[in-house]
Amino acid sequence: MEFREILARRRMHRAFLPEPITQEQIERIVGVIRRAPSGGFSQGASIVVVTEDERRAAIARAFGDEHYSLNGRNFLADAPVHLVISANESLYHARYNEADKLRATGGDEVTWPVPYWFVDAGALMMLVLAAAIDEGLAGAFVGHPDQKRIFDELLGLPAEVVPIGLAVVGKPGGDPPAGSRLKERRRSTEALIHWQGW
Ligand SMILES: Cc1cc2nc3c(=O)[nH]c(=O)nc-3n(C[C@H](O)[C@H](O)[C@H](O)COP(=O)(O)O)c2cc1C
Repeated sequence: MEFREILARRRMHRAFLPEPITQEQIERIVGVIRRAPSGGFSQGASIVVVTEDERRAAIARAFGDEHYSLNGRNFLADAPVHLVISANESLYHARYNEADKLRATGGDEVTWPVPYWFVDAGALMMLVLAAAIDEGLAGAFVGHPDQKRIFDELLGLPAEVVPIGLAVVGKPGGDPPAGSRLKERRRSTEALIHWQGW
């Protein structure tokens, strides 16, 4: 699929058909992690793939799936693939304390302009969702204030692995128009893009 077509189809779907997708498709989607960029090539982002019904149902319950329910359908529980995308800050500190990085900064760990571990996990999230569209599927990304505790308990994340949220993937079901398609809520291009300076 052409990039333009992927972009035209890109949106957060909020309804999925409760049908499985193939293991090959799942592997191609999560395999994009090999093409994801990372600060200093720290490779601190990770994905936990969850396809088991019980585990997906438990995640959906913990995330308050009922608030998203539409015509008796379950947004999160129906999606056949749950992908928990996480950041690991400790790998960045380790990488930026290696000799080549310390030589560049004169011996001290770099001053972080922003938390690159979250930047990279967000970039991975977008690649995963684009890969799902490329497979003819749909996806969405949701967060929960308590997601670290939820995924620690349900999926056994190590202490240093911090989830940025949950990406879900599946065959698209009928759902309401995306928020971003509502013209009245859309900020103008001039407010978003600044040429030659702010
Ligand atoms: C970091 C992030 C967190 C989000 N969290 C949620 C969420 O918790 N629940 C939800 O329904 N949508 C969530 N969304 C989806 C946004 O609401 C959606 O991207 C936005 O309304 C624009 O619509 P579109 O992506 O369909 O174009 C999230 C999106 C991002 C990027």
